[in-house]
Amino acid sequence: MSLLQQLKQQFTTRYGVEGVAFTAPGRINLIGEHTDYNGGFVFPGAVTQGITAIVRPNGSSKVRAYALDLDLECSFDIHDTEMPESTHLRYLYGIVREMMERGVKVEGFDTVYGGDVPLGAGMSSSAALECCFATAINTLFDGRLSKMDLALAGQATEHKYVGVKCGIMDQFISMHGKAGNLVRLDCRSGEYRYFPWHPNGYRLVLINSRVKHDLVGSPYNERRKSCENVALKAGLESLRDCDWDKLNSIRDALSDTDYSRAKYVIGEHERVLAVCDALERDDYEEVGRQMYATHAGLRYDYEVSCDEIDFLVETAEKLGVTGSRIMGGGFGGCTINLVKESLYDQFVKETCDRNKSTFGIECKVIPVIIGDGARKL
Ligand code: GLA
Repeated sequence: MSLLQQLKQQFTTRYGVEGVAFTAPGRINLIGEHTDYNGGFVFPGAVTQGITAIVRPNGSSKVRAYALDLDLECSFDIHDTEMPESTHLRYLYGIVREMMERGVKVEGFDTVYGGDVPLGAGMSSSAALECCFATAINTLFDGRLSKMDLALAGQATEHKYVGVKCGIMDQFISMHGKAGNLVRLDCRSGEYRYFPWHPNGYRLVLINSRVKHDLVGSPYNERRKSCENVALKAGLESLRDCDWDKLNSIRDALSDTDYSRAKYVIGEHERVLAVCDALERDDYEEVGRQMYATHAGLRYDYEVSCDEIDFLVETAEKLGVTGSRIMGGGFGGCTINLVKESLYDQFVKETCDRNKSTFGIECKVIPVIIGDGARKL
């Protein structure tokens, strides 16, 4: 039975009626990591995995929810001013409250939801959850908010209810994804452009290290703080406007840590632009080189990698893979790999074997298919 069928069946069994189905995807990001909250560029695409929910207004002020994957049942009143204890429930509660704050006349609803985007893999399962419910609430309660507003409601949920001071990339792409296209988003102006993604002779594949990354209460917020410290010292609104000369002119006023973080961000800004140029000429070897350079920056300067992920990237490099790096917020999760078709099978097999014998963990291979953004099914 498909996930959608299972969710529908559970919904009818629990509530005795049928509901409406909504879905929102997780994402990949080709390049531009930790640049979103610095006002820079990102280059994500939505994937075909995501979160799906069956929803139906229930005429009360209560939300009754069942999370299929977690076998977790919960409820809250939309007027409750105290936030739920459970982190998981805070996403749902948070998005409801954020939609209300944006003027949507939210009422109680029943829902069953679940997904096929792995949790804690750096593929933005949480943004998928937020965007799925933001879309459902906007549609069922005649919200009329734009996709960007829904993305911002999701981001505010992370900031205020979950405690992760994330940028806008994940929620943006979960709302705006388009099958077969990556998107370059300027996180300062909000301007974006779709780039058809047909890398002839190459494939993108994720390798999930299965080291769970958890951004809640993690050093993610500290990274953001470092960037803000440097921008402040440089007299700039964000690191987007900081170049090497500026950084070096304030070097003495910065801690070594803050300096390294800023070095990574300035370099990453240049790498995104280099990748855009390379894509104009279909130069995937150059794209790959930039991906490795991003990994080095994330590993040594931004310090958001870990041994298991470094091993995967090193293995990819030894096997002759075009590009490989840690993807997403960091501290575990997946690598994203740009691989020649001719090398694909060998790469996948060798990587899994070597990972198993080194760490005793079966890593998971996730072929990338670029899918659509949040929608009613
Ligand atoms: C997480 C955040 C994003 C972004 C990435 C790193 O996924 O939610 O906003 O900062 O990390 O690029």
